[in-house]
Amino acid sequence: MARELGLGNRCVIVTNETVSPLYRKPVEQALVSAGIRTSCFELPDGETHKHLGSIERIMTFLIESGADRSTWLLALGGGVVGDITGFAAAVYLRGVPFVQVPTTLLAQVDSSVGGKTGVNHPAGKNLIGALHQPRFVLVDVATLQTLPQREFLSGLAEVIKYGIVLDRVFFEYLESQLPKILARERDTLLHLTTSCCQLKAQVVEQDERETGLRAVLNFGHTVGHAIESLSGYEKYTHGEAVAMGMVAAAVMAEIQGVSTNEDTSRIRRLITSAGLLVDMPSFTRQQLVQAIFHDKKMKEGVVTMVFNQGIGGYCLSPVSDLDGLLSRAGIGG
Ligand SMILES: NC(=O)c1ccc[n+]([C@@H]2O[C@H](COP(=O)([O-])OP(=O)(O)OC[C@H]3O[C@@H](n4cnc5c(N)ncnc54)[C@H](O)[C@@H]3O)[C@@H](O)[C@H]2O)c1
Ligand SMILES: [Zn+2]
Repeated sequence: MARELGLGNRCVIVTNETVSPLYRKPVEQALVSAGIRTSCFELPDGETHKHLGSIERIMTFLIESGADRSTWLLALGGGVVGDITGFAAAVYLRGVPFVQVPTTLLAQVDSSVGGKTGVNHPAGKNLIGALHQPRFVLVDVATLQTLPQREFLSGLAEVIKYGIVLDRVFFEYLESQLPKILARERDTLLHLTTSCCQLKAQVVEQDERETGLRAVLNFGHTVGHAIESLSGYEKYTHGEAVAMGMVAAAVMAEIQGVSTNEDTSRIRRLITSAGLLVDMPSFTRQQLVQAIFHDKKMKEGVVTMVFNQGIGGYCLSPVSDLDGLLSRAGIGG
């Protein structure tokens, strides 16, 4: 595959200390048997290492090992490894190719597709980055067997998101196949990852730079980000916060008249049955509004919300009275 895509004969695998003992060997073997020279850079595990310091360490490794323009990078791991590796590839020698081999559900259905790469700054998440598309994304659902349950469910929240706003038939598939999904049956996981990658690719192809349509992928994220930030990024994973954010958005969509109570109940039911929380912690409305405005870096008081239109559709809607809408939706004390 690497050869067919015109990739050079030298690959640097970037992975982390958790994924490396699980999957590094087979990847190295496949590359070596294709006649590709490989070396490996191992990061410590965790979002706390997604910063410029890690990029600098990768740059040093690449320079010291004589990596040139025939070198390409391979991200082996979850979204953190993928984002860091993609950004390193975007800036090394002003850009070398890279390939994604995502090993978490979130990375397989979301972060590995779309070309957003980058790292965090102490002032905020993902503030430093570049758009750099991977040459290809290789998804092997077998890697999901070793994923901790909490991480699996976090990814599942993003999977459910695609169904709610982009594809009613896929939502119904999730409703009917949930036990098999939770049992991580191979065929179901294959269908799931393929569908999500296709849905995301369709959106990104139309709006790579997020001037409009791509915002649909932020469904549940406006309130979700507020929950993450108000709880110090420690209590909930991203997917757990997004799950609560999606239910909040669905309730607001109903108030706005673009979906029904039955739609909201189905969404709530699917998320609960998946084992994710639907009710957010008891923040005040003022806390939520402040966190949302801070996240969107907005001053003038209008926030563009993504609402589900029934199930399988969406609309982007400017909301000028967020406090009033939250109040009518019974969100926040
Ligand atoms: N670029 C994008 O478009 C985009 C989109 C969404 C999220 N993100 C980013 O993705 C990151 C989150 O990604 P994530 O949820 O994959 O987290 P992660 O990369 O931290 O992985 C979660 C945990 O699972 C471990 N792990 C990975 N694969 C494993 C496997 N197969 N078996 C056992 N353990 C495994 C990791 O080492 C880590 O401890 C965030 O930094 C977020 O900003 C990026
Ligand atoms: Zn997300």
